[in-house]
Order: sequence, then C-alpha cells, then structure tokens
Amino acid sequence: MRNIGILGAMAQEIDEVKALLTEKTTVTIANREFVVGKIGTTRCVVAFSKWGKVAATITATLLIQEFGVTDLVFIGTAGALADGLKVGDIVVSRRLVQHDLDARPIIPRFELPLLNRMYVGSDYQLSELAGKAVSNLLEKGVENIVGEDAVKEFNLSPKLYFGDIASGDQFINSNEKRLEILGLLPDVLCVEMEGAAVAQVCLEFGTPFTVIRTISDSADHNARVDFSKFIAEVANAYSRAIISEMMRLV
Ligand code: ADE
Repeated sequence: MRNIGILGAMAQEIDEVKALLTEKTTVTIANREFVVGKIGTTRCVVAFSKWGKVAATITATLLIQEFGVTDLVFIGTAGALADGLKVGDIVVSRRLVQHDLDARPIIPRFELPLLNRMYVGSDYQLSELAGKAVSNLLEKGVENIVGEDAVKEFNLSPKLYFGDIASGDQFINSNEKRLEILGLLPDVLCVEMEGAAVAQVCLEFGTPFTVIRTISDSADHNARVDFSKFIAEVANAYSRAIISEMMRLV
C-alpha cells in the first residue's frame, strides 16, 4: 500500500498540510515531529524538514527508514532565478542540482561525489501528478486558494512550470548572486535550500520523489521582505490546496 511522505521546509509551509490528516498520531525522532495519518484514503507521514540540505537529509532519511514511505513529496517556496517567473508561480521539478557543490579539481563542479552526475531526476509520474493537481487548482482560480485580497496584494496570476531546481545552503538575496547561479546553470528555474538533498537521499534509497515550489521572491535585494510576507500570508494556503488536490488524484 502507498504511504506518502510529505515534507515542507518551514512550519508555515506544512502546518496546514498536517491539519489535513485524519486518524493521526505524532512520533518524535531527532527533534522532529512526524505526523502519521491519512489524507482522504491515502496513508501519509507529514514532517517539517527543517532548513538546509543537512537538516532535510536527516528528515528525508528518517521518513524512508523509520516510516517506510513509498514516495516522497517536498512542498515549499523558492526564489525565482529564470526571467519571467513571478511571485505565486509554481514550479514542479524535473531535475535537482546542488548549486553550492564544488569538489574541483577532484571532480567537475556540481557533480555529486561517487554518483557521477550533477542532476537527480524526479519521478516522472509523481511530478506529472503534482502538475495535474496544480493545473486543476489554477483552472478554478487562485482566489479559491488564497482569497481575493491576497490575489490583489501579491498581484497573483500564477502559471505552472516544469523544470530544474537548484538547492544550496544559502538564502539568495542579490541579483549578482542570482545571475551568477543562472550563468553556471542556465536551465534552472528557481532556487531553494533542500530539494537537491532530498533528491540525493531518494536516489540512494530508490524512493520516487517530486519537489513542488511556489515562487515567494525574486532572489534579489527584495527577497528577504518578499519571502517573509509570502510565508506569513499565503504559503500555507498554497501547500494545503496543492497537497489536498494531489492526494485526491493519487
Ligand atoms: N526559498 C525561498 N526563497 C529563497 C531564496 N531567495 N533563496 C533560497 N531559498 C529560498
């Protein structure tokens, strides 16, 4: 039977997903709360990954090893790297890469040591399912997710993108740094701090995964303010709507 692990990097990205669970029990391991239960008829385990690649690696590993999850879904926010992406747009992963991994001259920049690759591909079917859930929601209108006031406040007219996501242990908040990453990894759509670590865990355990990221900021000098506002006001509503539609489709 399917048992889906769902991770978010911030309490504000995952609390309302926890609220979707029925028949729930909470288990604490390594200072992390894992909420076990069901969304609809699907067995799920929901947890706050904590921030950054190491924290997310620990949480993802526990989900697989201790809770036996069969699939892993990471949901959260990201800074836009590619031109044209706007706050409120949603990116579903195709591939994940660590933009701060650099073991040159031993191996090429961005290559995962001993895995002979830069990118880890997310599971095609799970990513398509996530994309379908997002398009269903966007067809009904984003005001049904966040309310009319937030649509005006954040000027939301969200689009769905599939593509590459870069992760690193840095909050990107300068145009210079944004362009530097984009110059080196031109296919990357957005940047965050956990996805590629979870991808590596899933690769090594053979667990299908996908990453869903809503754009909260443009990874530039306004990123701190934009990110904080998005997290405080709308991130939870996005996560709740996407996960609940995705679990309906599973
Ligand atoms: N998550 C959301 N916005 C981000 C940014 N600008 N940098 C890294 N992670 C993020």
